[in-house]
Amino acid sequence: DPNAPISVDPFRTVAREMKFLTKNIRQLLGSGHPSLDTVAKYYTQSEGKYVRPMLVLLMSRATALTPKISRERSAYSVNAPITDPDVLTDKNPSAPQYSPLSSLSRDAAYTAEQSDILPSQRRLAEITELIHTASLLHDDVIDHSVSRRSAPSANIEFGNKMAVLAGDFLLGRASVALARLRDPEVTELLATVIANLVEGEFMQLKNTARDEKNPAWTEDTLTYYLQKTYLKSASLISKSCRAAAILGQNTPEVVEAAYLYGKNLGLAFQLVDDMLDYTISGEELGKPAGADLELGLATAPLLFAWKDNKSLGKLVGRKFSADGDVQKAREIVAESTGLEQTRALAQEYVNKAIQAVSFFPESEAKDGLIEMCTKVMKRRK
Ligand code: FPP
Ligand code: MG
Ligand code: MG
Repeated sequence: DPNAPISVDPFRTVAREMKFLTKNIRQLLGSGHPSLDTVAKYYTQSEGKYVRPMLVLLMSRATALTPKISRERSAYSVNAPITDPDVLTDKNPSAPQYSPLSSLSRDAAYTAEQSDILPSQRRLAEITELIHTASLLHDDVIDHSVSRRSAPSANIEFGNKMAVLAGDFLLGRASVALARLRDPEVTELLATVIANLVEGEFMQLKNTARDEKNPAWTEDTLTYYLQKTYLKSASLISKSCRAAAILGQNTPEVVEAAYLYGKNLGLAFQLVDDMLDYTISGEELGKPAGADLELGLATAPLLFAWKDNKSLGKLVGRKFSADGDVQKAREIVAESTGLEQTRALAQEYVNKAIQAVSFFPESEAKDGLIEMCTKVMKRRK
């Protein structure tokens, strides 16, 4: 029963590793330029939720006892396309065109023990947090945000220019750390994530696939939103879970399960995020609430409401920019079943995430992965 209460605290199972995380991240972000050093480390001062590194560490530990393979590496074709032609569906997220060459990863010696988190997996956890934080630095500029993690956002504290440059710096350092893992498949996955974040953000600039004054609601409306959501939020989680399993020398079956877990949990995570924007106060969130409509964004609760109340199309078309639009949209969403439908869809994804890892051997880390699903559904920030 996926809904049965589980007593394990997912944080506890990887608490020892998490303790070093912030310290290591701050080390990765050191700069000889004192003000760059300050801006780059700014979001490491306030405690984030560390959802992504936690998932990487839990996935690493949960897959430590599954069967191992000696992975064939790695002379990949230099002619392989580096752009994602199928970006809207992300049908084949890994899609690396490797020709086998062989040789074991540097972690082979560690995997012999098959017991614990590898140094490369720990570093991967740090890299995911770096990429996430870089995207937040840029996001707060794009969204004109004033607060983040219950403090002034970096753009407010240091201005747009420094915030953007600090984000770029984080990506640079993340790339160096990634290169040092000496694993081309993992490098490719995380590099794709960075491109996906931008693609998702671009899709979000337009509420719908086509730019119309009075768009009609179609099934594509939801598909477009979910693809955007995958790229913006689930890509980092899914591909880093996949990368964790790859670094652990896991079989393709386990690697795929790790990916599916991350993808479904990531989609649920963002659906809940979009719900909280309507239901929770800014004070509790630690960032402005009700921001999405103000930014002209139609997220899941509104899209579900729109299906039953076609008058929303006009407001979506003009991005809630006319006087009273935001208020009107809020009322229509409140009277609709949009929030319930969003929660139900998130629950479906969470169930799929749990299903994906159900064949993993029983362990505290596996319970932690399942508990993360419950936490995502219950979270209020
Ligand atoms: C937060 O969403 C933002 C993201 C999940 C990704 C933003 C991506 C970019 C700005 C593209 C650039 C990417 C990199 C890697 C530099 P939100 O605004 O809905 O959430 P919020 O309420 O936390 O601000
Ligand atoms: Mg934002
Ligand atoms: Mg944003």
